[in-house]
Amino acid sequence: MSLISTKEMLQDARARQYAVPMFDVCNYETMRGVVDAANEMNSPVMLAGLKPDLKGVGLDYFIAMAKVAAQNANVPVAIHLDHATSFDECKRVIDAGFNSVMIDASSHSFTENVAKVKEVVNYAHQRGVTVEAELGHVPDAIAGTGEAAQQGIEHKNPKECLTQPTEVLKFVEQTNVDALAIAIGTAHGSYVSTPKLEIELLKEINAISPACLVLHGGSGTPEGQIKAAVANGITKVNVFTDILIAMFSELKTGLNESDNMGKWPIFVYEKPILALQEVVKNKIITFNSQNKS
Ligand code: 13P
Repeated sequence: MSLISTKEMLQDARARQYAVPMFDVCNYETMRGVVDAANEMNSPVMLAGLKPDLKGVGLDYFIAMAKVAAQNANVPVAIHLDHATSFDECKRVIDAGFNSVMIDASSHSFTENVAKVKEVVNYAHQRGVTVEAELGHVPDAIAGTGEAAQQGIEHKNPKECLTQPTEVLKFVEQTNVDALAIAIGTAHGSYVSTPKLEIELLKEINAISPACLVLHGGSGTPEGQIKAAVANGITKVNVFTDILIAMFSELKTGLNESDNMGKWPIFVYEKPILALQEVVKNKIITFNSQNKS
C-alpha cells in the first residue's frame, strides 16, 4: 500500500468510532515491529518521528525506512512528525514527504499558538499535508519519553493545564487546523500516580470541535479510560513509553542471561520485538482499530 492521507484516516476513525494508533518510532526495530503488528491486526497505523531522531541525515534514514514500511504493508500507513516546535522543523519534513505534522505551540499564549499553527497550516495544506496542533497542554510525567523529563525539568500536574472548551471553536476556525491534541488528564511518559481522564470535558469538546481530536500520553492510562475516550471522540492516540518499556525490559533480561556479548543483533532483538508487538496489538484492540484498514 502507498502512503495514506492522515486527514482521511482520522475522518474515517471519527465516522466509525475508533482511534488510529500512532507510535513514535526511532529505528528499524521499532518501525518494523510496529508495522508488522499493525498488518497482523489489519489496523491503520501512524509512524511518528521525534526531533532528536530526525536530526541531520537522521531524517533521510527515517523517511526511507518509513516509505518501505508503508509500501510493503497491507494496511494504511501515515508518516507523522510528532511535537515540532517551529515552522522550519515542519517544512523540512513536509519537503521530505511526511503526510502530517504536529506543531506544538501549547506552551505559548493562545494568540501565539494561533499564529504559529496558521503559518504551518498555510504551507502544509498547499501540499496536501495534515496538521495537528495542541490546545491546553499535555505535560510530561515524572519519567519517560517527554522532552522535559529527558532534561530533568519539573513536571506539571495535568489537571492544571486542561483544554478550555470555550477556546476550541475559535482556535480551529482561526487556524483551520485538521487535528487537535487536547489535554483531558493524560501526561507523557511514566505516571507517578494513576491518571483520571475528564471524559465529560472530552464530550463537551467533541460536540463543538470541527477538528479531529487527539490524545497524547497513551501509555500507562487504564484501558477502560482509553476506551471511554475513544468512544467519546478521540480519533488518534499517541504511544511511546509502553512500547519502549516492553522492548527494553526484554532486551535487558536477554542480555543479562547471556555471557555472549557478540551475539548478532537480529537474534538479540527477536524477543524484545515480540514484546513490543504484544503491546502494539493490545493498544489496537483498546483503540478499536482492529480490522478497520
Ligand atoms: P507516552 O510516551 O506517554 O505514550 O506518550 C507518547 C506521546 O504522546 C507522544 O506524542
